[in-house]
Amino acid sequence: MNDSAAGRAAQLRAQIDQANIRYYVHDDPTISDVQYDQLLRELEALEQQHPELVTPDSPTQRVGAEPQSELATVAHRAPMLSLANAMDDGELRAFDGRVKKELGIEGPVDYLCEPKLDGLAVELIYEQGRFVQGSTRGDGTTGEDITANLRTIRAIPLTLTGDVAPPALLELRGEVFITREGFAQLNRQRAEAGQPLFANPRNSAAGSVRQLDPKVTAGRPLRIYCYGYGLVDGHAFSTQEQFLKTLPQWGLPVNPEYRLCRGIDEAVEFYQELETRRDRLPYDIDGLVVKVNDLGQQTRLGQRSRSPRWAIAGKFQAQQATTIVEDIQASVGRTGALTPVAHLRPVNVGGVTVSRATLHNQDEIDRKDVRVGDTVLVQRAGEVIPEVVQVITEKRPPHAKPYHLPNTCPICGHEVYRPPDEVVARCLNLACPAQVRGRFEHFISKGAMNIDGLGEKIVERLIASGKIKTVADLYRLTFDDLATLEIERTVGRMETEAGQSKKMVALGDKVATKLLAAIDASRQTTFARFIYALGIRNVGEHLSRVLERACQGDLERLLAADTEELEAIHEVGATVAQGLVRFTGDQSNRAVIRDLLALGVQLEAVEAPAKGAGLSGKTFVFTGNLEQMTRREARELVEARGGRAATSISSRTDYVVAGPGAGSKLAKAEELGVAVLSEGEFLEMVK
Ligand code: IVH
Repeated sequence: MNDSAAGRAAQLRAQIDQANIRYYVHDDPTISDVQYDQLLRELEALEQQHPELVTPDSPTQRVGAEPQSELATVAHRAPMLSLANAMDDGELRAFDGRVKKELGIEGPVDYLCEPKLDGLAVELIYEQGRFVQGSTRGDGTTGEDITANLRTIRAIPLTLTGDVAPPALLELRGEVFITREGFAQLNRQRAEAGQPLFANPRNSAAGSVRQLDPKVTAGRPLRIYCYGYGLVDGHAFSTQEQFLKTLPQWGLPVNPEYRLCRGIDEAVEFYQELETRRDRLPYDIDGLVVKVNDLGQQTRLGQRSRSPRWAIAGKFQAQQATTIVEDIQASVGRTGALTPVAHLRPVNVGGVTVSRATLHNQDEIDRKDVRVGDTVLVQRAGEVIPEVVQVITEKRPPHAKPYHLPNTCPICGHEVYRPPDEVVARCLNLACPAQVRGRFEHFISKGAMNIDGLGEKIVERLIASGKIKTVADLYRLTFDDLATLEIERTVGRMETEAGQSKKMVALGDKVATKLLAAIDASRQTTFARFIYALGIRNVGEHLSRVLERACQGDLERLLAADTEELEAIHEVGATVAQGLVRFTGDQSNRAVIRDLLALGVQLEAVEAPAKGAGLSGKTFVFTGNLEQMTRREARELVEARGGRAATSISSRTDYVVAGPGAGSKLAKAEELGVAVLSEGEFLEMVK
C-alpha cells in the first residue's frame, strides 16, 4: 500500500514539476489550471495520509516557512554588477568601438542581446541541483535572504531536472517580474479589498519579493527569467548563447526574446526594433542589454568597479514624464463607476502625447494627495491608460486645490453611492447616458460581439437619435437608419489646433453597407462572447469561457441556474454567482436576451463538447511535430470536446497522436498497446 502511495506521490510530483516547466519555461502549457490544481490537491491529500512521504522539494512545500520579523542579509560570493547605460544608437556604437579596441580586433564582434526586464534582480543558488538560497541584489555585495519567498514562485524549480547533469554549484542571476496582465489583476484585487494600489509592475514585483510572510508572496503572480551567473562549479560554458540555451534543459526559465547579433549594426537594428515592439510584450522592459557573446572575450575585457566592460544597457525612451494637472473630472463607465481623471497639460511620454491620466478612485487621490495645479509624474505602460504616479510636492503652488468626487453623477445628476466597504463610487441610475453608452461600447467591442467599424461617435449618435435603446436594437438597424445618420466631423486641420471647424455629415451608403455587414457577421458568435458582451458585473472573458464549458454551451442552462448550481462550478465564487442570478432573474435582461436570439444571434458552442463528437474521459498525448496546428491548438481541440491532453504516456492514455519525429513516446505507446493516430486521423476524429 505504502509502496504504491510512494509511487503515486513521485508520479504526481513529476507531473506538477513538468507542468510548471511547460508553462514557465516553454510557454506551452499541456494541462489546464483546473487539472493542475487537481494534481496538487491529490498530492496534498496523499502526503497528509502518509506524512513520511513529504520531501523538502515537493510542490506542496513551496509555502512552508513561517513569517519572519526581518529579512537576514547575505553576502554574494561573486558581486552582482550593474550595467552602464547607452542612451542612443551612437552610444551603443561607441561601446562597440571600445570593445574592439580593447580586444584588438577589427571585424564584427558577436553580441548576445536580451531585453532589459524592469523588475528586481535576484540570485538563486543551486547546490547539487537543489535550490538552497535566494537573495536580492542589494548593493551588489550584500543582499537580503529571500529564499522562502522565492520558493513560492512556481517558475523557479526546487530541483534541476533534465538529461544534462546540473553542476555541483550554480549561482544564477535573473530578474523577478510581474506581467502587465498579472499586475492589472493584482491591482483589481487590491482595489476590491480596499488596499492601496501598486504604482507599476516593477514596484509590485519588488514589494512582493521582499515580504516577511511567504504566504503573501505566494499569492502574487511572480515570474522570473534568468540571464546570468555568479560562481559555477562543475560545468563550463563558452558563450552567453550557450549558457542561455542550457538553462531550459535544467528546467530554468530564460526570456526567449534574445538574439545573437553579428556585429553592432545588427544589435542596433534589434535595439530599434524592440523599442517599437515593447508595448506589445506582456511585460515591461526599459532597454536592450548588449553582451559580448564569447565568454573568453568577456574575461579579457574585465570590469570597472561596478559594471562589466563587456556589456551595456541600450535604454529606451522613458515611459514617465512630469506635467501639470489642469483639472480633475469624474468620468462614468458602463457599470456606473466614477473614475477621477486628471486633465493634464499635454506632455510627450515615450513618443505619445498624453493629456489625460487616471487617478483610479478617491482613496488613491487621497493617498497620493493629488490636487488641481500640482506638478505630477505620469506614466504610460503598454496599452494601459496613463496614470498619475506621484505628486512632485516641492512644486506645489499655494493655490493647488484638493479634489473630491461629486455626490451626484456628472452626467445625469443622479445620486452617487459608495458602499462602506468598497473603493468605487457609482451612479445608481441604470439609464444614465454614460452607462448606456458604455454598455453599448462593451457589447460591440473586440472580445465581445466584435462589431467592426461601429465607433464611439456613431454609437453616441444612434443612442441620441433614439434608434438604439437596448443592445438588441443594433440588430434592428436598417440601411436607411445608418446611411442617413449624421455625425460630427472635424474638417480641415488637426483636431487639437485652433481654427478647426466641425460639421454634421451623413454616414452615407458605403459606410452603411459596411456596418450592416459587420453587424450581420456578429450574429454568428459563441456562448462565451455573448455572455461576456452582456456586461454582467465580474464576468470577464475568462469567466465567460468557464461558464460556456460548465453549461456545455447551453444558454438555457445558464438562465435556469441558481446560485448553488453556479457556485458548484470551479472558479465561480459567491459574488459572481449572486451577480449572475441577479442578472438572469431580471425580466428586462431576459427580454433583451430573447430579443437578441429572435433577431438571429446564434451561439455556436466552440468550446463545449459537440454532441456526438465528445471526447469526454479520453486522454490524448501528442508527440512529434504537428504540421496542421500547434500543440496548443491540438490541446485546445481536445479540451473543448471534454477530453484531456497529457504529456506522458501511461496505461490510462487512450490515444497517442504521433507526427514526424516522434520518438520514445511512440515506442512506449506501442509497448503499452495504446492506439496511435496520425495528425490527419486525429483531425478526422475531432471534426
Ligand atoms: S546583466 C553583469 N541582463 O539590469 C551584468 N541585467 O543595470 C549585470 N536586468 O541589476 C546584469 N534584464 O536587474 C542583465 N537581460 C539582462 C537584464 C538585466 C534586466 C537588470 C538587472 C541588473 C540591471 C543592471
